[in-house]
Amino acid sequence: MNEQKAQERPVVVQGAMSVETAELIGAMSDAVEEPFGPWRMVRGQLFGHPLVVCETQWGMANAAALAAIAIDRYHPAALISQGTAGAHEASLNVYDIVLGVQTVNESAWQSHYRPVGAGAPYDDLKKLGVFAWDAEKKEFTQEVSHAADAGLLAAARRAVPQYARGKVVEGVIGTCDSWNCAIDRVNFLHDFYGSLCEEMEGDAVAQITQSLGVPFLAIRIISNSILHNQDPWDLGTGPACQRFVMEVLREWWSRK
Ligand code: 5AD
Repeated sequence: MNEQKAQERPVVVQGAMSVETAELIGAMSDAVEEPFGPWRMVRGQLFGHPLVVCETQWGMANAAALAAIAIDRYHPAALISQGTAGAHEASLNVYDIVLGVQTVNESAWQSHYRPVGAGAPYDDLKKLGVFAWDAEKKEFTQEVSHAADAGLLAAARRAVPQYARGKVVEGVIGTCDSWNCAIDRVNFLHDFYGSLCEEMEGDAVAQITQSLGVPFLAIRIISNSILHNQDPWDLGTGPACQRFVMEVLREWWSRK
């Protein structure tokens, strides 16, 4: 390994479940297990570049904690949150991929005042957002959504022709520790936040990466759609998403 390679900072890729990490880990050479407590972290090489894969388990707290730990440990050049998601948009089908131009925390809201007995309708909300560090303002600012890194997004766009299992679209990915199966609520979230799909990690990781200045992108594959009765999920989407992520990494490394 030459000196430049030895100094190259890795990319960290997160997936929540083994079906969302195994394809990447299997493709790595020189893979070394470097767990953090009970969580799996594997460091190795992909296409001759350093990669760390973190298996976070489901949910925002797990993914955010693992992002902070991985950033402190590996000083990554970029971090990608990827895996399966449920559709919020009727034009999306299982195996379609969403590039998260933005992520949004769909649990960050305040309900309007209602007196006792007046009910708590799920759609009577205003958006709150969550706090992340704003490097320009030099303060934590409350933002409803977080934008993807332009360089990672450009690499993902260049990888699109390599993906043949479905279409690749761009838009808002919604994050919440919930799984919505009521179609009226899914349609509300789609209208209110503009989300194309829902998952349980992306925006929590975007908060941490923004605060620590690490380029970030969320990439999600549709594994289920309540809008088309495509439920339960198709976990064959996990490996398909990772293969697309490998093409994104190949593109990103090729322009560095
Ligand atoms: N709603 C919420 N999370 C989903 N996931 C896949 N489909 C959905 C859905 N419809 C993802 C989450 C989490 C696990 C349940 O799979 O990100 O990791």
